[in-house]
Amino acid sequence: MTRTLWTRARIEGAAGDADELLAEGGRILAVGRDLPRQGARIVDCDGRLMTAAPVDCHTHLVFGGDRAGEFEQRLDGATYEEIAQAGGGIRASVRAVRSMTVEELVAESLPRLDHLLSEGVSTVEVKSGYGLSVEAEMNMLRAARALATRRKVRIRTSWLAAHALPPEYAGRATDYIREVAIAGLDAAHAEGLVDAVDGFCERIAFSTEELAPLFDRARALGLPVRLHAEQLSHSGGTAFAARHGALSADHLEHATEADAALLAAAGSVAVLLPGAFYMLRETVRPPVAAFRAAGVPMALATDCNPGTSPMTSILMTMNMGATLFRMTVPECLAGVTAHAARALGLATETGRIAPGLSADLALWDVERPAQLVARIGFNPLHARIFQGETA
Ligand code: NIG
Ligand code: FE
Repeated sequence: MTRTLWTRARIEGAAGDADELLAEGGRILAVGRDLPRQGARIVDCDGRLMTAAPVDCHTHLVFGGDRAGEFEQRLDGATYEEIAQAGGGIRASVRAVRSMTVEELVAESLPRLDHLLSEGVSTVEVKSGYGLSVEAEMNMLRAARALATRRKVRIRTSWLAAHALPPEYAGRATDYIREVAIAGLDAAHAEGLVDAVDGFCERIAFSTEELAPLFDRARALGLPVRLHAEQLSHSGGTAFAARHGALSADHLEHATEADAALLAAAGSVAVLLPGAFYMLRETVRPPVAAFRAAGVPMALATDCNPGTSPMTSILMTMNMGATLFRMTVPECLAGVTAHAARALGLATETGRIAPGLSADLALWDVERPAQLVARIGFNPLHARIFQGETA
C-alpha cells in the first residue's frame, strides 16, 4: 500500500505544532510532528498551506446549451421568474438536454468539472433536473456517474426531477410527481444512479404538498433528502425539509429565524449559494446571523448552472460568502470543506483533516486561509491530492 508523508506543511486546523501528514492506502493515518518515515514517499510542502480539499456540495454541472441570452434579458429588466413563466429558464435547458446523448452531456460537462478541479475540489455533487422525463433525468445522472470514471473525483448525485414542471404536464403537477419524479426515482435508484433526492420548493416550481409523496418515497428507498428552499419567496420549504430530516436546505435567502431553529433541531446544513444571489442581483440575504446563533452548520457551494449561477469557482464562492453574506474566513473555509461534506452525508469520509478520513487535500501557495478568500480571480493551488495521490 502506498504510504506518503507530507512534511513542512501549515496544516489548517491541526493541533499545536503539527506540520506533517501521513497517509496510507488513500486514508489519513496521522497528523503530527516527526512522524515515522519508513517506507513512505516524502513530499516536502515547503511551508505551504494544506487544507482539506474543497467539496462543491450543490451543482447542476451536467447540462447542455447556453442561456447567456437570458442574462442579457435580465440586464434589460426582465426578472428570473418572468423568464421562467415565458418558457425560458430551466425549461430552456430542458430542451437542450433532451436532445443530447449521455456522451454529449459528459463532453459538455467535463470542462466545467476540470475548472472546479483546478481549484483543488475533490468531491462534486451533481443534480439532474433539466431532463424532466424519466429517461432524460436518468441520462443526466448516467452522465454524472460517467464523470467519475473520467477524472479523479468523487461524484454524489441528486435526483432533482422535481425542479420544474415540463410543458406536457402543465396544470398537472401531481401527475408529474407520480409519473416522472417518483416512477423515475424508482428506476434510477434501481440502476444505482441516485445518492440523494432533491426538489425545488417555490411558487414557480413545487409546493410542499406536491413534494411530500416524493420525499416519502425517498424515505422508503432509504435515500436522504435535501431541498431548494426559500430562494425567491418564503414557501415553507425549510420547515418541510427539517421535518423530513433533510441533509440540507439550500439557498435560504428568504428563510427566517424560526427556520434556523428548525434546521438546528433537525441537524440539517444550510447550503448558501452566493453565485445565484449575485447573478439575480438579489437584495434579501440569507439569515447568516440567525444560522450562526442557532448553531446551524453553513456550507457554501457554486450552484454551477446555466442560468442563475454560471460559476465554476469554489474560490470565488468563498469570496462571495464573505463579501455578500458577511461570513468569516473560517466560516467560508468550513463552508466549502467540512460543512459541505456533511451536506452530502460524507462527514466521516472527506472535508476534514483527521485520521481515518480520505486523504483529499489541497496544497496552496499561501500562508493562511484569509489569502484564499480575499483574492479574486487568482488561483494559488499548488497541488490537489485525491485519496492520497496527487491528481
Ligand atoms: O439552484 N433554484 C433552482 N435551480 C437552480 C437554477 C436553475 C436554472 O435556472 O437553471 C438554482 O439556482
Ligand atoms: Fe440549485
